[in-house]
Amino acid sequence: MNWREFSVTVPASTANLGPGFDSIGLALDLHMVVYVSPAATWLIEYKDQGYQQIETGTDNLIAATAQWVADKYDQSLPAAKLVVNTEIPLSRGLGSSATAIAAGIEIADRLMGLKLSMKEKLGIGTELEGHPDNISASFLGGLTISYFDKEELEIVHVPEVEIGVVILIPPTEFLTSESRDLLPKTLSHKIAVQGSAAGNVVSAALAKGDWQTAGRMMQKDVFHEPYRKDKFPNFDAIQQSCLELEVFGSAISGAGPSLFIAVEKGRETAVAEQLAKEFPLYECLVTKPSSTGINICETIV
Ligand code: HSE
Repeated sequence: MNWREFSVTVPASTANLGPGFDSIGLALDLHMVVYVSPAATWLIEYKDQGYQQIETGTDNLIAATAQWVADKYDQSLPAAKLVVNTEIPLSRGLGSSATAIAAGIEIADRLMGLKLSMKEKLGIGTELEGHPDNISASFLGGLTISYFDKEELEIVHVPEVEIGVVILIPPTEFLTSESRDLLPKTLSHKIAVQGSAAGNVVSAALAKGDWQTAGRMMQKDVFHEPYRKDKFPNFDAIQQSCLELEVFGSAISGAGPSLFIAVEKGRETAVAEQLAKEFPLYECLVTKPSSTGINICETIV
């Protein structure tokens, strides 16, 4: 099949929002853009300094995902050159691997003319990531609340989210696999019921746009933060400062190591400046939710 160059833009995401572990995702206004053009063999070039250690051949996550889709549909995948420009810090809990998987699926779909539905793309992405939180937010934009049990995937999508966001990013990477290894294998019924109630209230409040309530209940996680937080410098002190700054809520962003802070729209710069003064180890990034998800552009400008 003949094809012309195109680009794929994918938003970053924060996952969990406290007790919505492996379920809630929020797309952020930080993007990865992949420019795709015909080539004799797969070649991937990252423009960003922070991505120089990434594989640039067929083992690259974007290329490997595209090949996985080709194998699944028993198709032959044409080779392509990918030039990647990204604002998403690598391995910092902002869904960089989900953006790569989403881009790989979209590129495969386009290169082989598969015409996959969004539901099929979400299903493939979730199967590859193992959980739907980051991948669904990257595909759909906005806020996603999902259920996945390997046979069934259900996603509730809230497209518009009106908050300001501050992300605290520490200088060191932390692998999701390492962070997941910190979690217990089982949880008592009593604690699971409590965690599920917190997640229910967060979800219902988010769906209503009630970030005051959602933010308060974000602090009630029992599924992952108690087991992970010691890995993140000043975690309790940051949460205390966030309370004093009257933010809506704060949580580990995905598996960490970044922290996600939801604030009333318009207050994000003031909150970031204060936290930057108090916690100079962290880079304080001001951003907002992205209401748009993955996007293909036909021509490269
Ligand atoms: N829900 C996932 C976790 C997000 O917390 O491990 C990171 O991939």
